[in-house]
Amino acid sequence: MKVLVVGGGGREHAIIKKLKESPRVTALYAAPGNGGIGRDAECVPIKATDVDAMVAYAVEHAMDFVVVAPDDPLVLGMVDAMNARGIPCFGPTKAAARIEGSKVFSKGLMQKYGIPTAAYETFSDPDAAIAYIRAGTLPVVIKADGLALGKGVIIAETLDEAVAGIDGIMRDKQFGESGNRVVIEEFMTGPEVTVLAFTDGTAIVPMVSSMDHKRALDGNKGLNTGGMGTIAPNPHYDDATAALCMETIFLPTISAMAKEGCPFKGCLYFGLMLTPKGPRVIEYNCRFGDPETQVVLPLLDSDLFAIMEAVSQGRLAEADIRWKPGAAACVVIASGGYPGKYQTGLAISGLDADGNREDACVYHAGTTCADGGFHTAGGRVLGVTAVATSLEEALADAYSAVDAIHFADRHFRTDIGKY
Ligand code: AMP
Ligand code: GLY
Repeated sequence: MKVLVVGGGGREHAIIKKLKESPRVTALYAAPGNGGIGRDAECVPIKATDVDAMVAYAVEHAMDFVVVAPDDPLVLGMVDAMNARGIPCFGPTKAAARIEGSKVFSKGLMQKYGIPTAAYETFSDPDAAIAYIRAGTLPVVIKADGLALGKGVIIAETLDEAVAGIDGIMRDKQFGESGNRVVIEEFMTGPEVTVLAFTDGTAIVPMVSSMDHKRALDGNKGLNTGGMGTIAPNPHYDDATAALCMETIFLPTISAMAKEGCPFKGCLYFGLMLTPKGPRVIEYNCRFGDPETQVVLPLLDSDLFAIMEAVSQGRLAEADIRWKPGAAACVVIASGGYPGKYQTGLAISGLDADGNREDACVYHAGTTCADGGFHTAGGRVLGVTAVATSLEEALADAYSAVDAIHFADRHFRTDIGKY
């Protein structure tokens, strides 16, 4: 099987390394990939959002299967376009990807089908939004309707912050058209859990739970990032909670999507908060999480390609999905300054010729490979994952590998797994 993975970050590297283990996969391509991914797959210089060029490449090179990993090509309809040319894919259609692409859609879905989430209102007029906030309680959560690179959420503690947030999103269009509408919601409290789930639109199989660390700095301080580190399983997520989530959130969500005429096939990401009133959905994503994938897939003990194929063929109920015992931890090494401005092109030391290490698994998020060495090329540069029998050991192993990897001004959190 010739398999093309669309995307070029740490998540895609983790998917590719797992697909490489499958006896069914004979050739792997990544578009655009990155320096480290190039050691595990053939990189094709096509932007992940260039639907026409991607489809043309897949047709011309007779790809047997395509995995569309990032949100934006999914929301743009890349899976529909591939399917129209007869190429099977792992990933949701454009209509199903609205579950992430539009907060107004996903909140409406949850309200209509009684899926527990924060109470909310939708606004397309900034003055009405501000009047609503003035009449309510603080803190309050403001979300741009559309995709905003994970930065479209503002937790306003004061009225001034809320007004500035509405102005930035709706009047100054910080996130472009994504800010034409906002969702304003109740502030919830409790531990956060990510659950990724395979679903073919009818059956749903949750993967091992995980925990992301979104803030840039230790102590959950600093700006929100794409994710600075992850652990799996999530210590807050016990079997009773998992059973409750299955009954009140996971099954109702896939049945709601089917009833709306857009069954979801692929990996559905549940961002959950375990509030004092029970588990609530913070957000859905239409794809694998990054860097959650970098701790979840290393614990998968089955053939990822066979599962993805079963999802695309509507045979998930028959798939063999087993997990390794133990735990995984991933520490992201970022460029100094991320998520703000940062330098690129800095030489990285501490990696072998394949960009890996013996004592950990190194997923490349933003690197290039030139003159036999690896250089930084993004905000998040590497995700260093260790798997061990306990979370404590996995964290110790991941941090000891991180200590041996250097580039100028590198930054990582020292407290992954402590929350
Ligand atoms: P999101 O981009 O929707 O995942 O939101 C980013 C982060 O904002 C989440 O991981 C939560 O920590 C926080 N957040 C989002 N919505 C709420 C809410 N209603 N109450 C409290 N925190 C929230
Ligand atoms: N790690 C959060 C996300 O993938 O959206």
